[in-house]
Amino acid sequence: MIEINGLTRLFGPIAAVNGVNLRVAKGDVLGFLGPNGAGKTTTMKMIAGYLAPTSGRISICGHDVETDTLAAQRLLGYLPEGAPAYGDMTPAQFLAFIAEVRGFKGADAKAHVDAVVAKTELAPVLHQAIDTLSKGFKRRVGLAQAILHDPPVLVMDEPTDGLDPNQKHSVRNLIREMAPEKAIIISTHLLEEVDAICTRVAIIDRGRIVVDSTPAALRAQGPLEEMFRTITTSDTDRVRERLSERAGSSQASAP
Ligand SMILES: Nc1ncnc2c1ncn2[C@@H]1O[C@H](COP(=O)(O)OP(=O)(O)OP(=O)(O)O)[C@@H](O)[C@H]1O
Ligand SMILES: [Mg+2]
Repeated sequence: MIEINGLTRLFGPIAAVNGVNLRVAKGDVLGFLGPNGAGKTTTMKMIAGYLAPTSGRISICGHDVETDTLAAQRLLGYLPEGAPAYGDMTPAQFLAFIAEVRGFKGADAKAHVDAVVAKTELAPVLHQAIDTLSKGFKRRVGLAQAILHDPPVLVMDEPTDGLDPNQKHSVRNLIREMAPEKAIIISTHLLEEVDAICTRVAIIDRGRIVVDSTPAALRAQGPLEEMFRTITTSDTDRVRERLSERAGSSQASAP
């Protein structure tokens, strides 16, 4: 349902995403892992049609994200990194607005809003401005808008970031319940989350996919955390590399 071919995004000289190929089918929950700055959010923004690729193609259930954007976005729920926009709205107003944008009307719109409010346990804060909510509740508002139209494809950027252990547990259950009918990508830094809900794992490092496997196959090779450390580049190493590249290029241009 999600097909990504040769996806690349440059920011100036830096390739934030570099030749990524991924396929995610119905029933898959792909855990997208990688160190800070590896390219997870950039990849997800491109899947959601919020950022244009420099090159490469993405299709959602056969609809090309660049040339058939609206059709692709209709089939997709996207939880961006951080808090939802429109912070002066309450969750009730924001979700009613999202329901309208998604084309629901009257009782149908209300039924969809009520269903996601129950699923994400938002009732206690429904009439409080989003800006004034705690981080975890803001995250749950974001999650609610992503799943409101029950899309077949879900892309969630660190869905459990900022949630307390009880909420992490209930959001993971929610993802697990939705999984059989959907193609899901979640990014995460929590390796236990991969074990808890993911059927597949892709690890990205400096814009390139370095592992595309299953949690079970990776576990068989040893602790996931050790593998992650061995195959990805730490921030410190990356900064050191950049500095030595820069030193190299300034030496090269010196008279
Ligand atoms: N708008 C932008 N302009 C310039 N560089 C950018 C921009 N957006 C992202 N980058 C760079 O692209 C690279 C990948 O960033 P990205 O946010 O995709 O990483 P990430 O894997 O999501 O990291 P994290 O785990 O910290 O969320 C980083 O080097 C980042 O600084
Ligand atoms: Mg990110």
